[in-house]
Amino acid sequence: MEEEEGPEFGKPDFVLLDQVTMEDFMDNLKLRFEKGRIYTYIGEVVVSVNPYRKLPLYGPEMIAKYQGRELYERPPHLYAVADAAHKAMKRRAKDTCIVISGESGAGKTEASKHIMQYIAAITNPSQRAEVERVKDVLLKSTCVLEAFGNAHTNRNHNSSRFGKYMDINFDFKGDPTGGHIHSYLLEKSRVLKQHSGERNFHSFYQLLRGAKDGQLQDLNLQRDPALYTFTQQGAGLSSSDSDEANYQAVIQAMKVIGFSSDEMDCVHRILAAILHLGNIQFVETESGLEVAEERLVDHVARLTATPRDLVMRSLLSRTVASGGRELIEKDHSAPEARYARDACAKAIYERLFGWIVGRINEVMEARGRDPRRDGKDTVIGVLDIYGFEIFPDNSFEQFCINYCNEKLQQLFIQLILKQEQEEYQREGITWQNIEYFNNSAIVELVERPHRGVLAILDEACASVGTVTDRLFLQSLDTHHRHHPHYTSRQLCPTDKTMEFGRDFRIKHYAGDVTSAVEGILGKGLDGEIFEVPSICSGTYSTDLTLRSMWPDGQQDITEVTKRPLTAGTLFKNSMVALVENLAAKEPYYVRCIKPNEEKSPGHLDEERCRHQVAYLGLLENVRVRRAGFASRQPYPRFLLRYKMTCEYTWPNHLLGSDKSAVGALLEQHGLKDDVAFGHNKLFIRSPRTLVTLEQSRARLIPIIVLLLQKAWRGTLARRRCRRLKAIYTIMGCFRRHKVRTHLTELQNRFQAARHPPLYGRDMIWPTPPAVLQPFQDTCQGLFRRWRARQLVKNIPPSDMAQIKAKVAAMGALQGLRQDWGCGRAWSRDYLSSTIDNPTAAAPFAQQLKNLKEKDGFRNVLFSSHVRKVNRFNKSRDRALLLTDKHLYKLEPNKQYRVMRAVPLSQVTGLSVTSGQDQLVVLHAKGQDDLVVCLHRTQPKMDNRIGELVGMLAGHFQGVGQDLEVRVSDCIQLNQRGRRRHVSVESKPDQPTPDFRHSRDGFVLLWPSP
Ligand SMILES: Nc1ncnc2c1ncn2[C@@H]1O[C@H](COP(=O)(O)OP(=O)(O)OP(=O)(O)O)[C@@H](O)[C@H]1O
Ligand SMILES: [Mg+2]
Repeated sequence: MEEEEGPEFGKPDFVLLDQVTMEDFMDNLKLRFEKGRIYTYIGEVVVSVNPYRKLPLYGPEMIAKYQGRELYERPPHLYAVADAAHKAMKRRAKDTCIVISGESGAGKTEASKHIMQYIAAITNPSQRAEVERVKDVLLKSTCVLEAFGNAHTNRNHNSSRFGKYMDINFDFKGDPTGGHIHSYLLEKSRVLKQHSGERNFHSFYQLLRGAKDGQLQDLNLQRDPALYTFTQQGAGLSSSDSDEANYQAVIQAMKVIGFSSDEMDCVHRILAAILHLGNIQFVETESGLEVAEERLVDHVARLTATPRDLVMRSLLSRTVASGGRELIEKDHSAPEARYARDACAKAIYERLFGWIVGRINEVMEARGRDPRRDGKDTVIGVLDIYGFEIFPDNSFEQFCINYCNEKLQQLFIQLILKQEQEEYQREGITWQNIEYFNNSAIVELVERPHRGVLAILDEACASVGTVTDRLFLQSLDTHHRHHPHYTSRQLCPTDKTMEFGRDFRIKHYAGDVTSAVEGILGKGLDGEIFEVPSICSGTYSTDLTLRSMWPDGQQDITEVTKRPLTAGTLFKNSMVALVENLAAKEPYYVRCIKPNEEKSPGHLDEERCRHQVAYLGLLENVRVRRAGFASRQPYPRFLLRYKMTCEYTWPNHLLGSDKSAVGALLEQHGLKDDVAFGHNKLFIRSPRTLVTLEQSRARLIPIIVLLLQKAWRGTLARRRCRRLKAIYTIMGCFRRHKVRTHLTELQNRFQAARHPPLYGRDMIWPTPPAVLQPFQDTCQGLFRRWRARQLVKNIPPSDMAQIKAKVAAMGALQGLRQDWGCGRAWSRDYLSSTIDNPTAAAPFAQQLKNLKEKDGFRNVLFSSHVRKVNRFNKSRDRALLLTDKHLYKLEPNKQYRVMRAVPLSQVTGLSVTSGQDQLVVLHAKGQDDLVVCLHRTQPKMDNRIGELVGMLAGHFQGVGQDLEVRVSDCIQLNQRGRRRHVSVESKPDQPTPDFRHSRDGFVLLWPSP
């Protein structure tokens, strides 16, 4: 702040004054005012002086300068207070309020607008639509309310003629989610009459000057305000801006807020009706009282959509309750009729104003919020109430307005001066008591039950007719004869400023206000002399908007005897409620000072200002502040907020008490000199200390957030891990269960498998769980081997060669030939068998012996008679001998002479057909293929093909030589380089199989069965 607030601008905070005297205070105020520094602090209170000129202190750039800053970091400003209130609300979730006080024209309304603009500008960074809507309505509502509730007065060209307290609701992020406006006591008497130099409410002039010609015609109005009794007086005066432009602005604002065009029309019709009502005059004729210009009644009736007769009757007569519950109609006298007309105009305007406030509230209401889901709403209240004012003749409204200011001053004293000092005493802080003016006696004078001015006024109203003004004054005099703040001419006969029997004076904190009793009494009885004319009830109107302004409907005339609460009592109750509401919040104050009466920029009337400084109690404020402390917090709360900034207190301290822990914390920060220790609270003298603590907290928060995140992430991960473990355990159990079930099932099923002869051959394996599939495959393999073993172990060794050959044949044929004699016993050497070869077994044995000696073979693999065909298509009977060394073709008719011997090493393969025939073609390297049919003499259907294939394949496997076994029904031959084919043909009448020449080779004719 230093560079922006040099010594030439005076002290930015009155607390920094060298001496707290009125002179020093005024010098500083004046110096700053002259330098364009209209804002100065007293601690957190802002003192604002109305500059009456545009200063470059506002707008987005300025807002950016103050956003998120601490109070002392920037030159004093309303923005800083608004930020502090918003920050306090966000940090501590505490409701706050900004109370703006000062006399009429001191700049309260302007201040409230700047504050709202600031809050709107710094919130909703994420541009949420609902929040933007609420902000729009909040900002636009001011324009509409000012049009209907403000007026040009002698003291202020845009004077608020109603009190306004606006609550803004915030969500936990600190964004506005809704709002509510309370309005207090509209100065409705202004509708009828204004002081000289003043105007009616802006709305009338705006309509007359701003509406289009056609619209005015519809409303039967003419553009000149001088033509209407109610606006005549102010016709020559203008508001600060042009009424035309403001009319458009208000229409625009009403649209944004959500007023329908029907509703806006209705508002304009009501304004027009009031203007017409004002022009109605009464004339006494022989037939009684009459309306001078009945056309005006027509206008009123049409504009309010009320039957004309009813309007007329309401103006000229009234219904009264006679004894019992009987109602009688009584004609008005001329003054009564005028009173009825005025009461009506006032009541309608008041209802209209109330309805507008209500509609804005409907739109601003925080919608669809659930505190359990969205967190608690916090609130910032902004109070802009009419300022203290003294007129030559002060009406009931002034009385109320001044009482209201008195109440607010009392609250200020309570919060800033009294409570503060009391707290120091309570907490045992050494404290020099500071004297201040306590206005509670004046508040008491007004509001005390039974004896207060309001109570006496109520009593006077209750017995209307019998109590004269003078009796009311007497009653006041009797009750308050010795009251230091009350006087009247009777009590002080020498004071010529008051009139005998008419005036009384209340010495308010801000000045003496003299009122005439009639002014007070008359207004206090609003609607009490007789009921408000029935057209004002809206019940009879066919216009729905108008009717909705009277939700209570027409009051039953017999109810009048019950005496509704008077305006005074209603106002008092609303003030008590307001003060209670404010007291429950954390208050921020803006104290506005009006520099001069002339609204002139740059001029500071010292006398006037000194007076305001005195009655606002600003000097006392400075003194208390200087001696006092900027902040106080209970020890536990202080620790909760700052404990992370000190090793002794983080995460929890082990010291004797919270107080000593706080001591240790401050010691470590070196801030002990700036604080005082109360019994329960810590008192911090300067905001700078608080800011130091806040800053070191802010530095640590990200680390703590990380720590919390780490812990939380760890928790989440551990939780997930536990869950996974549980899942795996469950899965494991389930798998075990499945496996166990499967194994039990296997065991049960295969109980019988050990028994011969099948050894579980037809048993069906249960489907295993997926995990056991490989196991099952292995098991099946094992089982097959075991079963094979069981089967094989019973086979005698003599059969083993045969079995091996069968296995080899099966492997070689690969299922391509169905019938290969597997079921037979394979004897192999059929030529040596006397059963098979009874006639020539002996010569064959001799030849075998010769060949064994010659070729040295060890085993005969196969021997059989065959029918062969040669390349010359000659079929002959021959014998085939297969040893472990050679393949022989023998001549059976010549003692089995060898006709051809092929070493086995040259045999490359053999070919057979898929049928039952016994055709076999033997292939050898570099030799003609040998085509034979094993069938010549063997028993019929004895299938020896498999045997030959098995023996040869088994032998080749044993010596590790390849043998190609082909199964084909058209076997390819190679004879002397020629490619030929041999196939089989079934022939029923064929006695024995034999070959026949075919087109490309041979056909084996096979006897079909
Ligand atoms: N900060 C400011 N900058 C420039 N002009 C200002 C400022 N504050 C107030 N004014 C001027 O002073 C006039 C009166 O201010 P404002 O209406 O806020 O007074 P008020 O305290 O609300 O009075 P009342 O009690 O009558 O409503 C404004 O119309 C404006 O012209
Ligand atoms: Mg105002």
